[in-house]
Amino acid sequence: MGKEDAAAAAVVVAVNGERYEADGVDPSTTLLEFLRTRTPARGPKLGCGEGGCGACVVVVSKYDAVTDEVTEFSASSCLTLLGSVHHCAVTTSEGIGNTRDGFHPVQKRLSGFHASQCGFCTPGMCMSIFSALAKADRAAGRPAPPPGFSKLTVAEAEKAVSGNLCRCTGYRPILDACKSFAADVDLEDLGLNSFWKKGGGGDGDDCADVSKLPPYSATAVCTFPEFLKSEIKASMDQATGAPSPAATGWYHPKSIEEFHRLFDSNLFDEKSVKIVASNTGSGVYKDQDLHDKYIDITQIPELSAIKRSSKGIEIGAVVSISKAIETLSHGGKVFRRIADHLSKVASSFVRNTATVGGNIIMAQRLPFPSDIATVLLAAGSTVTIQAASNKRICLTLEEFLGQPPCASRTLLISISVPDWGSDEGITFETFRAAPRPFGNAVSYVNSAFLARSSVDAESGSHLIEDVCLAFGAFGAEHAIRARKVEEFIKGKLVSAPVILEAVRLLKGVVSPEEGTTHPEYRISLAVSFLFRFLSSLANGLDEPDNANAPNGSCTNGIANGSAESYPENHPRAGSSDLPIRSRQEMVFSDEYKPVGKPIEKVGAELQASGEAVYVDDIPAPKDCLYGAFIYSTHPHAEVKGVKFRSSLASHKVITVITAKDIPTGGENVGSSFSNLGDEALFANPVAEFAGQNIGVVIAETQKYAYMAAKQAVIEYSTENLQPPILTIEDAVQHNSYFQIPPFLTPKPVGDFNQGMSEADHKILDGEVNLESQYYFYMETQSALAIPDEDNCITIYSSTQTPELTQNIVARCLGVPFHNVRVITRRVGGGFGGKAMKAMHVAAACAVAAFKLRRPVRMYLDRKTDMIMAGGRHPMKAKYSVGFKSDGKITGLHLDLGLNAGISPDVSPLMPSSIIGSLKKYNWGALAFDIKVCKTNVSSKSAMRAPGDVQGSFIADAIVEHVAAALSVDANVVKRKNLHDFESLKVFYGESAGEASTYSLVTIFDKLVSSPDYQRRAAMVEHFNGSNRWKKRGISCVPIAYVVTLRPAPGKVSILKDGSIAVEVGGIEIGQGLWTKVKQMAAFGLGQLCPDGGEGLLDKVRVIQADSLSMIQGGVTAGSSTSETSCEAVRKSCAALVERLMPIKESLEATAGAVPWESLIVQASTASVNLTEHAYWTPDPTFKKYLNYGSAISEVEVDVLTGETTILRSDLVYDCGQSLNPAVDLGQVEGSFVQGIGFFTNEEYATNADGLVIHDGTWTYKIPTVDTIPRQFIVELMNSAPDHRRVLSSKASGEPPLLLASSVHCAMREAIRATRKEFAAAADSADPALTTFQMDVPATMPVVKELCGLDVVERYLESLPATTTSPYTGKA
Ligand SMILES: Cc1cc2nc3c(=O)[nH]c(=O)nc-3n(C[C@H](O)[C@H](O)[C@H](O)COP(=O)(O)OP(=O)(O)OC[C@H]3O[C@@H](n4cnc5c(N)ncnc54)[C@H](O)[C@@H]3O)c2cc1C
Ligand code: FES
Ligand code: FES
Repeated sequence: MGKEDAAAAAVVVAVNGERYEADGVDPSTTLLEFLRTRTPARGPKLGCGEGGCGACVVVVSKYDAVTDEVTEFSASSCLTLLGSVHHCAVTTSEGIGNTRDGFHPVQKRLSGFHASQCGFCTPGMCMSIFSALAKADRAAGRPAPPPGFSKLTVAEAEKAVSGNLCRCTGYRPILDACKSFAADVDLEDLGLNSFWKKGGGGDGDDCADVSKLPPYSATAVCTFPEFLKSEIKASMDQATGAPSPAATGWYHPKSIEEFHRLFDSNLFDEKSVKIVASNTGSGVYKDQDLHDKYIDITQIPELSAIKRSSKGIEIGAVVSISKAIETLSHGGKVFRRIADHLSKVASSFVRNTATVGGNIIMAQRLPFPSDIATVLLAAGSTVTIQAASNKRICLTLEEFLGQPPCASRTLLISISVPDWGSDEGITFETFRAAPRPFGNAVSYVNSAFLARSSVDAESGSHLIEDVCLAFGAFGAEHAIRARKVEEFIKGKLVSAPVILEAVRLLKGVVSPEEGTTHPEYRISLAVSFLFRFLSSLANGLDEPDNANAPNGSCTNGIANGSAESYPENHPRAGSSDLPIRSRQEMVFSDEYKPVGKPIEKVGAELQASGEAVYVDDIPAPKDCLYGAFIYSTHPHAEVKGVKFRSSLASHKVITVITAKDIPTGGENVGSSFSNLGDEALFANPVAEFAGQNIGVVIAETQKYAYMAAKQAVIEYSTENLQPPILTIEDAVQHNSYFQIPPFLTPKPVGDFNQGMSEADHKILDGEVNLESQYYFYMETQSALAIPDEDNCITIYSSTQTPELTQNIVARCLGVPFHNVRVITRRVGGGFGGKAMKAMHVAAACAVAAFKLRRPVRMYLDRKTDMIMAGGRHPMKAKYSVGFKSDGKITGLHLDLGLNAGISPDVSPLMPSSIIGSLKKYNWGALAFDIKVCKTNVSSKSAMRAPGDVQGSFIADAIVEHVAAALSVDANVVKRKNLHDFESLKVFYGESAGEASTYSLVTIFDKLVSSPDYQRRAAMVEHFNGSNRWKKRGISCVPIAYVVTLRPAPGKVSILKDGSIAVEVGGIEIGQGLWTKVKQMAAFGLGQLCPDGGEGLLDKVRVIQADSLSMIQGGVTAGSSTSETSCEAVRKSCAALVERLMPIKESLEATAGAVPWESLIVQASTASVNLTEHAYWTPDPTFKKYLNYGSAISEVEVDVLTGETTILRSDLVYDCGQSLNPAVDLGQVEGSFVQGIGFFTNEEYATNADGLVIHDGTWTYKIPTVDTIPRQFIVELMNSAPDHRRVLSSKASGEPPLLLASSVHCAMREAIRATRKEFAAAADSADPALTTFQMDVPATMPVVKELCGLDVVERYLESLPATTTSPYTGKA
């Protein structure tokens, strides 16, 4: 076939400069799927499949042959359909730099700023940064940047990655890497990096200098290949621009008439044809079936037109949101406000393709919480639609939204926004409140208000002539105008009584539909927004806008406002241009070099380029099949049968694997931990919880398997079954508990009754609750099982526990353990979630592969992963505490219930970790009753700092309750109850270690007694005294964490050329284990080298874990795997040194210093065994040690919306003598930010059956770059050495997560200040106003509820009566 003919038959794309023809691909293939299965590109990853994570970002370039121009933009390849990128050039992270051609400066800087941990997000980050640089450098009218920099600004750098999720790093180093390109950056402000020494004095090697950064030049990469340009030009000549619909299933009408003709032809069945603009809508409303035909409307010229006239701007329906923003930002103030609001919709890589028309259609047809519809509605927009080839109608947007959902053949042609000119009398404001300000979050409520008014000379207030008040996203079918309120306001002078009446009327108008979450909160938000708007038009009111400017910029605390009195040097909250600043302090030591050096993470550049291989990146073996779980939606029911509804996807089902396919002799076991009990792999026949695996649908591709699994219809029966036990209360009622083995049962301290008898005061009924948290590893669970000869099987698994996975798979298949080889190279984030559940996925693949005699791969879609994962244990803590009048606590009794779910999993370990961290305070006497409840929900498992984080938080919640009851500063009570070394020993026994290592009091005092803290605390008080609508809180939290050392294997092999291969049982999950191990190997063998081993660093390769090569690998968990793996390696090295030293000495005696390579050649020739395997076991007298730290966080809460801005966090963490300060810093910052998510935002909700409903990026909000502390200061300190720890180091993976409760505590302080103020105004003395507890997570609705849903009304009512009538607005 000739090239032209071929082009006509298939989609043609250039990927990283190579030409690809997508012959025979399914029409519904996404660009991501195509890249990953039909090209070598593996950089774009599947993290969510819904536009919400950025892991799949690529740069798409389009060539316009008429103008000879190339436009390029970032796009989410998971939503972009292949059929829509015909003749485009696609650049992935490998395309901008790789091992062979050299890495791109973005990749090198990400590596050098230590900005990649597990690396799964890194290629997407890389492309978002790359695209931001390209965009800035293309921008005309900007001055040329200084050499080595881009035209990008620091402010833009912060936005560049705001839509990309990273679960590991805490974003600060990613931001630094990105900012390092900005022309206006002060390089000294950037954090720890490998280019210059931080804080090194400022000259020579130490100074921050652009010349030390990997050089950047804007013209480095050409993204549009010449061959494709020629092909495009040729195809224009031959009118074969679009590929053949017959071959591709894609239709590209060139006119509206053609669109309607197509639709009318009998080719189309409305069910299987999909009309698409950019298809991002499928990120919101997922396709339920495959489609075999697509109509792409983007090539209808009229739909892409933008027309400006004196009347306004008409935006074609397929104009992208980004393009619309660009256009509107050059218009009058109403246009600019709209543009500003639109820039908070989704993320740049979604906005670059998502169309304005697609958004409006979603808002019209579905109850989609559109921002665009709301703001355009308030601006008085109209739409033009065409339902048949000759029937074009123009409607107001309000009319259009109010019509019944339009038919699929109705085409939205354009949206016209009137020009409100420079009319001084026009005020236009927009608002939105969302869990994240910029990072890809739809709003709880959005609104936009337009008023025409004049200033009344006498009162100084505005007289409203006309007004439009639009509200959306509050739980209605579509955005609405609050007509009743508008009518009321019209003709009135804005005053407090008018506003009060307006908000009362509004509450009757904004009425969330049944089933909407947080309905009262949403109503109060609408009230807040209206209050904000109207109070800016009234003279003499305490205007919230003075502290918080509107226009969406107020979202989640991000504000532009001005007039309020801010004390000098006080950080301005939420200002969107307030740059994120950071500082890191640490001590470097050369004692064990190269251990202790902050070397770059092993493989960071590979991770950035996308070449690092995760399980789903392994090329599919021949005949590979793919699986997807079918799960129960019922909490307790017998599965009678599984059928498939008739659909295109159901035709793709090859088979369904269930419990009956477990081979004879095998067991139905999915996971098991340390003899604590098994969990079943498949429901058989009773599904015991919603989310339980019933079977695995097998299909030819992963996409088919996903889609086919959605077609499953399960028949249930609940006959003869007890109702499910779902909650802790249910379990208590039914006595449904797991037993805790005695050796795991924590011990009480002292005599509680006596402690209470010594108390001056008692709290007897305290309660605080904590919900679950999902791991949100960026790489979902995945495994690839390849059957081998003689009933053997190899499984590539993304697991933290290859050894246990091997055991489970073998039990499941009924084969000896040695038949099962589990291989894990790296894991794209684990956080505990890839321990137990990873076994299920590996076992399911293994059963399928065994049965079908073909390789089987499973890569869970995000929704299934979230439904099955389990996550952190929800807990309910009730407490009785006795204390003296000076705050000294004398006794605590804790009644704790934790929801463990269906199987024991690791839950019996929870009590000891909860109590371990709770014991950080000296409670006098401590008693507890902990119930590990067995319920019909998914099994809860270990998540980073499992139990410890809850225990530590509960401790502070109690201490702060005591402080509030005594009306004293919480820090005073905390300090009073910190242990001295004697009480530490009583509470912790042997884990307390030596007195010299007890650093907690020093750390706490250092933070709390510092003049800086005292000054800030005073400023917070001052701020709160002078601001009604924003309140600040500051809190310091100490932590103690018990680290347990476990045995670990290690093997070091020196090859004949001097290169070194190291194997350890631990898994690289992003925590830097390989990096520390590499340093340790170089250190351990260093005695054989003249330079002490630094030169060996480049010779060491840590290789993948293999359960047959390295047995007894154990589990990578509990923070200590890095140090114990290092210790095993050191032991191996010591044996090798002992063997090689005599040869070295004898060579030196004859030839002087011996180079490493010569030594090894000699040893090899002399048949010295150059490999050593060691199994390190901890000293029986030193199996545990304590980690300490403290954090101060300062937050600002928006009383009107419940949003929180973390102004500053100062962390001091005792890391011992760090094995690698860069790695440890990354662990501290990353876990702190993960903790922020747990405490503030991550709502992992279930329905009444216990089925997870927050099951994607749309509803589950992990922190993004815009939610981290605006000032982030971390100090790693090294307390007294203790050589019983590995080279005196300490763990860093989990303990710092506990520090994040400082944010929660600070929020409670801010809320307390609010409640005090409003209580004082209302003359209320209810003690609950100040002694309240706040559950976890403290989401915006929770915070707002505690501040008071009715604060606006209360404030307005409290104002002195005025002479202005709310009804006339006149005196
Ligand atoms: C991660 C993410 C975050 C988001 N966040 C927000 C947010 O915060 N606020 C907000 O308002 N929106 C948000 N959106 C929605 C986003 O704006 C829409 O997905 C997008 O604008 C739809 O445009 P599209 O071109 O991709 O439409 P498509 O997905 O191609 O189409 C959507 C629907 O509209 C139909 N359609 C498209 N164009 C036309 C037309 N001209 N005439 C008739 N029918 C048409 C299609 O047939 C389809 O049914 C978000 C989306 C994603 C994926
Ligand atoms: S995978 Fe595409 S945005 Fe998450
Ligand atoms: S490094 Fe970002 S998700 Fe792991």
